[in-house]
Amino acid sequence: MTHVYRSRHPPAINLMVMGREEVDLERILTVDEFTEPARGAMDPKAFAYFSGGAGYELTLADNIAAFGRRRLRPRVLRGIADVDTRTTMLGREVSFPVAFAPVGFNRLAHPEGEVAVTRAAAAARIVHCCSTFSSRTIEDVGAAGDRPWFQLYASYDRSVTDSLVQRAEAAGYQAIAVTVDLPVVGYRDQELRNSFEVPPEFFANMRPDIEGELADVVFHETHQGLSWDDIDRLRSVTSLPIVLKGILTAEDALIAVEHGVDGIIVSNHGGRQLDRSIATLDALEEVVQTAGDSCEVYLDGGVRRGVDVVTALALGARAVFVGRPYLYALAAAGHAGVSRCIEILRAETENVLHLMGAARVGDLSRDQVI
Ligand SMILES: Cc1cc2nc3c(=O)[nH]c(=O)nc-3n(C[C@H](O)[C@H](O)[C@H](O)COP(=O)(O)O)c2cc1C
Repeated sequence: MTHVYRSRHPPAINLMVMGREEVDLERILTVDEFTEPARGAMDPKAFAYFSGGAGYELTLADNIAAFGRRRLRPRVLRGIADVDTRTTMLGREVSFPVAFAPVGFNRLAHPEGEVAVTRAAAAARIVHCCSTFSSRTIEDVGAAGDRPWFQLYASYDRSVTDSLVQRAEAAGYQAIAVTVDLPVVGYRDQELRNSFEVPPEFFANMRPDIEGELADVVFHETHQGLSWDDIDRLRSVTSLPIVLKGILTAEDALIAVEHGVDGIIVSNHGGRQLDRSIATLDALEEVVQTAGDSCEVYLDGGVRRGVDVVTALALGARAVFVGRPYLYALAAAGHAGVSRCIEILRAETENVLHLMGAARVGDLSRDQVI
């Protein structure tokens, strides 16, 4: 048998200098290690916006804890010489099953903002889902990336919603991910305490005259009364696949399937909306079972290591999304930081797949997780 010998860890990268902070990317071995450099590189109010959650932040913590509650049943002696991490998302091949979740206002973290993120994602052949509240325009991100997905916050004004979707379609985006867990903004204590405001020019896709506290702006720009009828209506506006982001129950998964959606992201918005809502990993299986083969099911929230990726996949997720990890990497070291974040997650995912006895992601089985 061929002896495969190559590095099991991300290759070394040179020293990066960011402002007054020096981040030695080679020494960053887990994505969690971007957190402190990110804190140092950002305005404290911006860091609070990125890191915080709703209420007592129980759900924020539970997303991570839920992974720690599970245990794995590895299989051995399967003669695996090499692991293939590739899969597909909505019919498109990705190099491994991790994607970038929509996170608003990336320029608060780094001047290049979403453009640096989408470039790194494109170079690594993974999906980047760009937020409605991106701080670079839909068009700039579309041109820099490789068919990113567009995350839609539907507006109370249908013409605004339609124009966002049409712009994304024209700019070559692959799919529309409609966020459904933000009828109103959750009580995020840190943001409220800080009276957090985003500079008006960072609302790259919105009216130029926007100002005020973020929670107020979001409240005024989004549709509080969004319903399944609006999802149906969206079908008539775009031919792109429609994914619903923010479903946590079998009941809603069933309705989503009945409305013919192409994908579901099991998400609680990174613990930023309803505190004490169920951890996403705990919600995953009922959604997977309900969706069956009708649509793809993804998960986000608390994914920090390859072992988390593999756990979610074994429980039926097609792929997972990460939010804060890439954002902190962006703050710490811009594009190079984001690339490093991807490398770490990919190397870890490959490692864990091999240890689980899975040569391909499709070889994982439900009974390998307890
Ligand atoms: C600072 C921040 C901003 C976010 N902005 C958006 C957004 O604009 N649209 C959206 O659908 N989700 C948004 N999310 C939620 C993420 O898409 C995702 O659900 C969450 O970050 C996943 O959890 P993780 O950060 O633990 O990986 C945001 C999350 C964070 C942390």
